Amino acid sequence: MADVVGRPGRDALEDRLAGLREELEVDVCVVNGENVADGVGITPKLAERLLAAGADAITLGNHTWRRQEIRPYLESSDRIVRPANFAATTPGKGLTVVPAADGTPVAVVNVMGSLSLQPATSMWELVDDLVDEARSATPVVVVDVHAEATSEKVALARWLDGRVTAVIGTHTHVQTSDARVQPGGTAAITDAGMTGPHDSVIGVKAEQATQRMRTGMTVRFEVADGGIRIEGVLVGFDGATGRASAITPVRVPWP
Ligand code: FE2
Repeated sequence: MADVVGRPGRDALEDRLAGLREELEVDVCVVNGENVADGVGITPKLAERLLAAGADAITLGNHTWRRQEIRPYLESSDRIVRPANFAATTPGKGLTVVPAADGTPVAVVNVMGSLSLQPATSMWELVDDLVDEARSATPVVVVDVHAEATSEKVALARWLDGRVTAVIGTHTHVQTSDARVQPGGTAAITDAGMTGPHDSVIGVKAEQATQRMRTGMTVRFEVADGGIRIEGVLVGFDGATGRASAITPVRVPWP
């Protein structure tokens, strides 16, 4: 579920995801793809490659619109969602349903937090309706909450406890150590981490990121290439009730 960053993240997934799915007995796999095109945005071709590598659905975030060519793809594909709280007039949707390996329908919901990001509306305004709509299709509901603030992600996980299978945070690219199944049966983690180069500043070459911070000047960012890991979480759930039974962080070095 973690953000897949640039070519290193893509290469790691294309090489290892199918094998990991088998080893970990994964029935359904959701990845965040908003950083897959050179660190910002996604193209239809790259989306197809993530799906071919073994993802069942792709979620997005604040970099959704960086690549114009993704707009029609968001309309035509049922395998990709963008934050539901973007403007209603923009292409795409924030909820889709994909089949797990055994055919169990899995709803995938994507929302975006407000702190330091600019959604058109607050996720709180629409998340209840979105979850109701998802639950009318299937009890298995996975929410990707793309947000900067830990507080927003923890709060959403609590708010949805007992109504969805998992609330998985993305966007910060740093895996948090709070994976837990909440009292109502909803698994959660504040951030699933990053599938990409960890010898970096959240995926960007460290010297470029630090130069921008130290000088305040515009610096062209490039995706780093060292310390590549596949990160995410493995959620165990009951397909009949949608309740989560376990959540385990995944951190696999690559190659
Ligand atoms: Fe993001």
